[in-house]
Amino acid sequence: MKFFIDTANLADIREARDLGILDGVTTNPSLMAKEGISGEANILKHYEAICQIVDGDVSAEVIATDYEGIITEGKRLAALAPNIVVKVPMIKDGIKAIRYFSDHDIRTNCTLVFSAGQAILAAKAGATYLSPFIGRIDDVNWDGMDLILQIAEIYAIQGYDTEILAASIRNSKHIVDAARSGADVVTCPLSAILGLIKHPLTDIGLAQFLNDHKKANA
Ligand code: E4P
Repeated sequence: MKFFIDTANLADIREARDLGILDGVTTNPSLMAKEGISGEANILKHYEAICQIVDGDVSAEVIATDYEGIITEGKRLAALAPNIVVKVPMIKDGIKAIRYFSDHDIRTNCTLVFSAGQAILAAKAGATYLSPFIGRIDDVNWDGMDLILQIAEIYAIQGYDTEILAASIRNSKHIVDAARSGADVVTCPLSAILGLIKHPLTDIGLAQFLNDHKKANA
C-alpha cells in the first residue's frame, strides 16, 4: 500500500518524506486555504514547491465545476510538473473531464466519493485514483471502511485499473483497516502516520534495554 500525506503544509511534507516512506501528497482547496495560500499564482507556486519536495504523485484539485473550466484548469495544473495528478470532483462534468484527461494521458484523482456506484463510474471514465472519504462517512454514522471493501471487491471482479486511495483518514487505526480492506493507497495527516510508530510496550521495552545496558556498562 502506498502512503500519501494529506496536507499542503510544506514542513509536514518534508517530515514525512524524511521518514523514507512517503509515496505522494494530496491536497484540496480547504487544505490550501488552511496554509493561507490564495490567488491563482500563489496556488500554482505552492504546488510547484510541493513537487520539488516529493518525487511521487501530487494531487492538485480543480476549482471549476463545469466541463470546459475543469479541462482548462486541469491542463494548467498538469503542466506544472510531471508528478501532478489532477483532482476532479465526482460530478457529471467531472466524469466527462476524467474521460478527456484519460484519453489525453493526464492522470486524475476522482475526489468526494461516497458510494460504490460512484466508484464504478470513475473507473469506467478512466480515473487513475479514486478517493473514497472514510472519515466523513464515519462522521455520519455509516461505515467508511465497508465502502473500501465493497470497491476493492468490485474492482477485482471487474478488473478495473483505478487505484483505491483511502482518504479522509483520521487516525492510525484507519490506516491499518484500509490496508486490510484492499486500499492501494492511503492519504493521511502526519499525526496518523506518526501514530503508527507508537506502542507503550515499545517504549517500556526500550527504556529497559537502555537501563540494563547502562547498569552493565557503569
Ligand atoms: C482527500 O484527498 C481529501 O483531501 C481529504 O482526505 C479529506 O479529508 P477530511 O475529511 O479530513 O477533510
